[in-house]
Amino acid sequence: MKPKHALFLWAASTAMMAQDWPIYHGGYGNTKHSPLNQITAENAARLQLAWRFDTGEAGKDTEMQSNPLVIGGVMYVTSTKLRVYAVDARTGKQVWRFDPHGKEPSGKFRNRGLNYWTSGGEARLYFAAGPWLYALDAKTGRPAAEFGTQGRIDLREDLDAEAKDLVVTVTTPGVIYKDMLILGSLVSEGMPAAPGHIRAFDVRTGKRRWIFHTIPHPGEYGYKTWPKDGYKYLGGANAWGGLTLDAQRGLVFAPTGSTTYDFYGANRPGDNLFANCLIALDAATGKRKWHFQFVKHDLWDRDLPTAPTLVTVRRGGKIVDAVAQITKSGYVWVFERETGKSLFPFRQVKVAQSDVEGEWTAKTQPLPLKPEPFARQQFTEDLVTNRTPEAHADVLKRLKELRSGPQFMPPSKQGTVIFPGFDGGGEWGGATWDPETGLLYVNANEMAWIMKLVERKSGGPQTGKTLYARNCASCHRDDLKGSPPEFPALTQLAGRKSEAQVREVIAKGAGRMPGFARLQAPAIEAMVRFLMTGEDKEVTGGPAVAGGPNDLKYRLDGYVRFTDPDGYPAVKPPWGTLNALDLNTGKWVWRQPFGEIPALAEKGMKDTGSENYGGSVVTAGGVLFIGATNSDRKFRVFEKRTGKLLWEYTMDAAGNSTPATYMVGGKQYVVMGAGGGKWGNRSGGSFYAFALPE
Ligand code: HEC
Repeated sequence: MKPKHALFLWAASTAMMAQDWPIYHGGYGNTKHSPLNQITAENAARLQLAWRFDTGEAGKDTEMQSNPLVIGGVMYVTSTKLRVYAVDARTGKQVWRFDPHGKEPSGKFRNRGLNYWTSGGEARLYFAAGPWLYALDAKTGRPAAEFGTQGRIDLREDLDAEAKDLVVTVTTPGVIYKDMLILGSLVSEGMPAAPGHIRAFDVRTGKRRWIFHTIPHPGEYGYKTWPKDGYKYLGGANAWGGLTLDAQRGLVFAPTGSTTYDFYGANRPGDNLFANCLIALDAATGKRKWHFQFVKHDLWDRDLPTAPTLVTVRRGGKIVDAVAQITKSGYVWVFERETGKSLFPFRQVKVAQSDVEGEWTAKTQPLPLKPEPFARQQFTEDLVTNRTPEAHADVLKRLKELRSGPQFMPPSKQGTVIFPGFDGGGEWGGATWDPETGLLYVNANEMAWIMKLVERKSGGPQTGKTLYARNCASCHRDDLKGSPPEFPALTQLAGRKSEAQVREVIAKGAGRMPGFARLQAPAIEAMVRFLMTGEDKEVTGGPAVAGGPNDLKYRLDGYVRFTDPDGYPAVKPPWGTLNALDLNTGKWVWRQPFGEIPALAEKGMKDTGSENYGGSVVTAGGVLFIGATNSDRKFRVFEKRTGKLLWEYTMDAAGNSTPATYMVGGKQYVVMGAGGGKWGNRSGGSFYAFALPE
């Protein structure tokens, strides 16, 4: 009797699992695969909107990137204004809402979802708002009192670094291993930035259980790839795109980003381990098992943009458990899970050396020989847009003035083309793995951007304007116009913000903006005056800027996308693609343009593909679900073996997030957040759930 009973329980619990989407991206393996098969390639054309839940939080340029969790018929999401909602997954009716803000928040937030943990009668949700990591009771949405102080801990503490005035937050869920929540972090892209150390916290108390220094301390492995005191003043090397867990082996995989400052590394000569690495750690202790560095001494902001995917492949008649990592530059790397050995051949390529004074360039960089990249690799003259003769002539002229070469062309004062651009290639939506077909799906961007270094003026009188030029113009640009919406314009600030709000943003930072608490009050005051009134006063009353190793000579001249005079990409289409790779052979099985620009499609320029953000979900029913495309705002269903389009639905705003699929009341649903807001596209605040009719 006993074994039979146990088997029944096991079957019942796997059936329960199969109905839920209890973990970000469907599981800690980041496969985004679901065993559900009610929606199939045959019936997908009959899908319809089952319900829509509107958070009412859409604002100007806001985004909503949450991958919903669905557990026992309740959907949990984070919203545009960084609140948490519990919603009935069958009807779309709100159950509860949690608001971490005291007052209406004024900043812009990006959050990709929640971690869920349950044991005995307890169930908790974890997410970060600013520096605060919250644990909520999943039933009520109230902070779980025994976690940290009244349900939250301060992520700036226990970091083995002085981070009290720096940005440390989490935007992508981590993983739960036994009774630990393991997290990466988002830190600022400019200086000063906190280090991106990986940490494990006790799920009940919030106490730190282990830490792995992604910027090693003296005596630790990799320390010698930095200047002696670098760990004291450098930051970044953070895993902002989530983590992956192989629970059976007790291995956690952390994909890290570049170290600060992103584009000029004169104060960090060396390879800079463990920036731009996939690091395999012992999940129980945080000890390093292996690592692979994709970019040595990054000068291009080539962060690993997503957590890798656990896959299983055939090699020489053997089954090999592997881990697949996509990159912003457009490559798929596949490593043996336990050893870190690459399953495909790669070589160390000699690369161009920087001619910017003081820079240190790695002599070689690794590039795979197989599989072929999923994005074009070099912006050559034959790739110049043909959209109109005027656009062609303009772009060709500018391209000739810029440096453009293969991967790893260093940034320059002349301006260097980076292609694919800062947002990939691959992005945070990550890859999707289907164990039935052995296919790995990747949606990608193909946009060129321009990296230009300009001198950070030093010396001379300290005024509001010169302080601005030194500290702020790399992101907000000399003319205050920024690169909105990612890096907001600071023109007409007075109408939107109070002086107190501006002072606070400068001192504390926000999102990808560093805080400037190290600048003293008179300096901050002078910048606030300058921004609010245009008045440019000299600073008196104390030294304004410290100098020191972070006082670099060069900075980026803004985050500039390479577009034609009408704002369309400078490069020929496709501007976005959807691709399927056979991981057993390393060959692409299908690849196609993904998305459209409605204004161009109307004029007959169809199938251009478009920039896209957010991932896909593949199912045992034979379909691939995806939103992601920025401009046409469509949710699409494809046949997973061939890439044939089966059904599409136009939403209010782009589905710049990853969908989730689940079963409740005998019905399979697929739900997706339509937050939009990328590059001036419309913002939304709704979740759309689709299902077959009765
Ligand atoms: C590394 C890039 C970077 C640097 C350097 C930077 N900022 Fe920002 N700034 C941002 C980003 C990104 C945002 C949007 C923050 C968010 O997500 O809310 C922002 C937002 C702001 C805002 C709020 C604007 C609004 O409309 O909400 C102000 C004001 C601001 N920055 C001022 C400054 C000043 C002054 C400096 C220099 C002392 C500075 N920034 C340096 C990236 C930067």
